[in-house]
This record gives sequence, structure tokens and C-alpha cells, in this order.
Amino acid sequence: MTRMLKKALEKILTPQESEELISAFDQIGDIIIVRIPDVLLPKKKIIGETLLNEVKIVKSVFYQASPVEGDFRTRNLEILAGEDRTETEYKEFGCRFRVDVANAFFSPRLSTERERIANLIEDGEVVVNMFAGVGMFSIMAAKKKNCTVYSIDINPIASKLCERNIELNKLAGKVISINGDTTKVIEDLQEKADRTLMLLPEKSDEYLDSAIKTTKDGGIIHYYSHIHADKKSDAGKLSEQHFLDVTPVKSKILASKIVRPVGPRYYQTVVDVKISK
Ligand SMILES: C[S@@+](CC[C@H](N)C(=O)[O-])C[C@H]1O[C@@H](n2cnc3c(N)ncnc32)[C@H](O)[C@@H]1O
Repeated sequence: MTRMLKKALEKILTPQESEELISAFDQIGDIIIVRIPDVLLPKKKIIGETLLNEVKIVKSVFYQASPVEGDFRTRNLEILAGEDRTETEYKEFGCRFRVDVANAFFSPRLSTERERIANLIEDGEVVVNMFAGVGMFSIMAAKKKNCTVYSIDINPIASKLCERNIELNKLAGKVISINGDTTKVIEDLQEKADRTLMLLPEKSDEYLDSAIKTTKDGGIIHYYSHIHADKKSDAGKLSEQHFLDVTPVKSKILASKIVRPVGPRYYQTVVDVKISK
């Protein structure tokens, strides 16, 4: 795929420019989303048309005109070529997902982390996914393990897509999509979780009390954050220390790791923690 694209782009870009572009685009089903460096913006239309013509199954190419932002963690997309349609189907590890790349958060770059979490879950667990989006982690977990997942999101479009994904993957009763603010939903939730996912790294500290409230004594929290580290190898330990500084309950760190780089010397990390209440 990369070789084919390089060949297609070599007609309009220098080898260095096409290298940079290829590392900055995502293909999601039949949609390509490309981040274009400022110097190449005058060529954005021709870049879009080239990608549309050369990547066979692609029907739409969008330029990502803003970072992921706002409460719903969505981004502005500008159509460069093809159909102006942002909903598509995406497949990952045997699961099918309806996603809307403009109106609900979705990232194909979290697939390794989704698989890691699904592997950690044990049969019979109750999982609370506090910031679930279209249900990527929830569906994968319930497809792989015999668990119950409460899949909460404040964005009504994300929650509706999660409902469709539950149907598509035949997981009715195993994944429960709930639309609302996670703090309020958790106040009313009767069941407590063996495992809680906090995939809103920018605001993990703000929602930690809710995560602790919804998790059983002895349960596990997957706490995601954004950490600045001069040395990449320090990022995991720094995020563990950060968690220990903010947690109000007795906590045993089980593991920590970098999920993905998010900027220069800036990393999204996860800390897996067993809590005692
Ligand atoms: C970074 S995305 C993660 C989505 C999902 N876990 C995934 O990986 O695809 C964060 C999600 O949290 C949701 N969100 C933000 N604030 C929220 C809140 N107070 N309660 C529930 N969901 C919230 C956003 O709508 C967004 O879908």
C-alpha cells in the first residue's frame, strides 16, 4: 500500500514530501483522512484526487482541517475529492463498526490498545467504558470475552452508532450503550465494575472520582493520560507517578506503557491500576 501510494504521489510531490504525507494519513473503510503540512496546502486538491484515483476501494478523501477538539473530541474535515460522506464501515479483529469520522471520535491508531484490553478482560467481568465513543473497545471486548460492558458517551451520535454496532456484531445484552455525562450515568448505575476504562486522556484527573466510584473494591482502572517526557523511556514511569500523586485511594500499579506519541516529547500513556477502597 505504502509503495503503491508513493508511486502515485511521485508525480506531484518530492520523495520527502510524499514520505511526510503518507505518515499523516488514515484509511478508514472507504474514506481517507489526510493531514497536510502548511507548505503543501496549495496542492491539497491534487493530492486528494491522486489518492482517490490510486487507492482502489477509496470513495472519499478528506483533509483534516482541525485537531481533535471539543467535548465530543471531533475534528473538522474538508472534502478534497470523491463523495462528501463521513459515515463508513470499518473492520477490526473480526468486528464490524459503523463510524462517522466527522461527528463521533474514532481512531484506527488505537487498535493495538483495543486488542490489549480485550485480552486482559476475563470471562464474567463487568466493564464500565466511561468514554466509549462508537463502542470500539466495548464491542471488541464483548466479542472476545464473555463479559458485560456499559458503554457510556455524552455524544448522542456516538451512542447511536454504538447501538448500531451492538446490532451489527450481535452483542445485544452484552454491550449496553448509554448516552449521557459519565458522572451522572455512574451515579445511577446499579452494577459495579471489575474493570473501568478512562479513555479521555485530557480529563482523566477530573473524572477519577467517578471511575473509583463505579469500580469494585479490588477492581482495575485503565487510566489514560498525556505525559510530557524528555526521554521516551521515562513516559510510562512518569505517568505512574502522576497517577499515584492524584489517586485518593490505595492503588497498586500493575503496568504502564506508551499508547502512542501525540506530539514532540509528548505521549498518550496508560496505567493499569488495581484499587482498594
Ligand atoms: C478520546 S474519545 C474515546 C472514544 C473511544 N473510547 C474510542 O477509543 O474510540 C473520548 C470520548 O469521550 C466522550 N466524552 C467526553 N466527555 C464525556 C463525558 N463527560 N461523559 C461521557 N462521555 C464523554 C466524547 O464524546 C468522546 O467520544
